[in-house]
Amino acid sequence: MTGSRVLGTGSALPRRIVTNAELAERVDTSDEWIVARTGIRQRHIAGEGETTATLATDAARAALADAGIEADSIGLIILATATPDNTFPATATKVQAALGCQGGVAFDVAAVCSGFLYALATADSLLRTGMAKRALVIGAETFSRILDWEDRTTCVLFGDGAGAVVLEAPSGDTSADSPGIIGTRLHADGDQHDLLFVDGGPSTTQTVGHVRMRGQEVFRHAVVNLSSVLKEVLEDNGIHADQLDWVVPHQANARILDATARKLGISPDKVVVTVDRHANTSAASVPLALDVARKDGRIKAGDLVMLEAMGGGFTWGASLIRM
Ligand code: UT7
Repeated sequence: MTGSRVLGTGSALPRRIVTNAELAERVDTSDEWIVARTGIRQRHIAGEGETTATLATDAARAALADAGIEADSIGLIILATATPDNTFPATATKVQAALGCQGGVAFDVAAVCSGFLYALATADSLLRTGMAKRALVIGAETFSRILDWEDRTTCVLFGDGAGAVVLEAPSGDTSADSPGIIGTRLHADGDQHDLLFVDGGPSTTQTVGHVRMRGQEVFRHAVVNLSSVLKEVLEDNGIHADQLDWVVPHQANARILDATARKLGISPDKVVVTVDRHANTSAASVPLALDVARKDGRIKAGDLVMLEAMGGGFTWGASLIRM
């Protein structure tokens, strides 16, 4: 039976846009280098009063409006983030309070750039148990606040933002093309912890820390892991790559998107790309890109869409959805 159904999507971006040229005034880099190596042209950076919770709340409100439902029908909020407002309580509880739908379940998921896929799979599982009827699944980040702005190898890569989806528990419809989550695969490999991590935390340094990455090695693993998990989900569900209408990948680097699509024989026209405008927004990038492509009319009801992401941990995963 098909899983939970996407009723609506929404997203939010900080007001301030920072171009590559502006970064080149701060660190030894150039627009040419950043565009050639990553495809990034600009990113949104949170300003005063903008936090992970405010962006998440704005994205959630947009998703509720898109779904045409009120917040009080939401019984479950799962927020994927590596940049919570506070170490505790979960930022999801701040979003719940802001939306005014107290009493249900609300918690954060930490799986960095794969966080939205981990959150989506968790929400789908809980909805299937009857824990709630409707869920908000949110990816929201303010990575700008954990970047080392002196380190050109990382500070040019990330941006801030949020994306959200409203999910509804499966209807019990068993027809072959009924809308909903068809299949998901998640993975983690803790041996790769030190290739992409933050060098601080409450229990180690009592500081927040900064993002550290061995970029080339992460790149190599990303292409291998993403193509393998995409194949896994396609095979699990007897779907050929040609049958996909859209792929919505985690937006880390345009070259990773190209290499992964090429490995699977997926046409680049079917890959949603927002990395040029948003840079890498970690857990927010997949729901942000999904919302952009729905709102501009590319992704339509009935389309077969593959979401995929990979990030620190390492963690990675893919989810096949009939919209
Ligand atoms: O979201 C989680 C997943 N994250 C990712 O998937 C990121 C994966 N990695 C990448 O996207 C790429 O590895 C990067 C974009 C981070 C780097 O691109 P690269 O082609 O792998 O470059 P590199 O690290 O091999 O560096 C090439 C050169 C080096 O100089 P030398 O040693 O050749 O003289 C770097 O020092 O580029 C230099 N460099 C820069 N130059 C100008 C590194 N960063 C910059 C910069 N501007 N910002």
